[in-house]
Amino acid sequence: MKAAITATAKYLPDSILSNRDLEKMLDTTDEWIVTRTGISERRILRDPEKATSYMCGEIARQLLEKRKIDASEIELIIVATMTPDMLFPSTACLTQGIIGAVNAWAFDLNAACSGFVFALNTAARFIESGVHKKVMVIGADKMSSILDFTDRSTAILFGDGGGGVILEPADEDGFGLLDSRLYSDGKTGQEHLLMPAGGSLHPASHETIDKKMHYIHQDGRQVFKSAVISMADVAEEIMKRNNLQADDIAYLVPHQANQRIISATAERMGVDQSKVISNVSRFGNTTAGTIPICLAELDEQGKLHHGSNLILVSFGAGYTWGGIYLKWQ
Ligand code: UT7
Repeated sequence: MKAAITATAKYLPDSILSNRDLEKMLDTTDEWIVTRTGISERRILRDPEKATSYMCGEIARQLLEKRKIDASEIELIIVATMTPDMLFPSTACLTQGIIGAVNAWAFDLNAACSGFVFALNTAARFIESGVHKKVMVIGADKMSSILDFTDRSTAILFGDGGGGVILEPADEDGFGLLDSRLYSDGKTGQEHLLMPAGGSLHPASHETIDKKMHYIHQDGRQVFKSAVISMADVAEEIMKRNNLQADDIAYLVPHQANQRIISATAERMGVDQSKVISNVSRFGNTTAGTIPICLAELDEQGKLHHGSNLILVSFGAGYTWGGIYLKWQ
């Protein structure tokens, strides 16, 4: 038995932060940001009372509406995020409470930008094993909550938002989530992309605040190199394992960190740019949100057809990276 996506949804806050706005806050230019990243604007969840669970709640409600089911039918909720409302309780539990999914258990999964791919793969195992019939998987991040808006090297890259899916047993053989390859490299990755404080190593203190240790820290150049190689490698591996040629692929849905990384991955796969999903110019990098937002947009536009082959690929902090091959039901 395979797991198939039966509903998609996304949530993006209304408030736009454009490159022009950033020009007024930082020593940067629209031209630099567009050329180096492909990003023109991103969304910001400005209401200080609202956090990641708010976005997850909005996504979860839409998923239930689209699938026309009651919250009580959901058996498991996995939220992929690295910006939970708080360390505990989990944002998945908060989401479960918001929608009243009284029969669901819920947990967060933190694999940074690969969070949704890791969570989707995890959720699929519960369907394939017959343990559950309806699982909600959400990827969402309020990146503005951990951005240093005086640091031009990171503040320009990220935005707030998320998306999600419902996973259920596929109706037909050969459809749904057919293959996946997931990887981690904590040895190389840990020093290049991290938020140093707020955990058990450096609990919050005056010192951690003074040293700006509660913000995202990234060595962009190092991460860029690893992302280009790893995303292309895993995409190629998935294609080879499943005897897929570039022409067989309906859409490549890559993590949206940088247009140059997206284009390099597509080039290595030999996939035409018209089949490569990119919305990084409008939303920036929403971390665990990027891939489910892309899926929801494809779905809204009526572009996902019975039998469409999709490859999802991601790369993020950890390092974590991976790819999923799914045939749309
Ligand atoms: O999703 C998680 C994974 N994260 C990623 O995939 C991000 C990967 N990294 C990247 O996308 C790119 O490395 C960045 C977009 C972050 C940076 O692009 P880059 O081409 O690697 O630039 P760089 O870091 O090598 O910096 C080039 C120059 C530097 O100046 P000098 O040293 O050459 O004088 C930076 O100080 O650009 C400068 N710079 C900026 N200039 C204007 C850095 N940020 C900015 C800025 N505006 N916002």
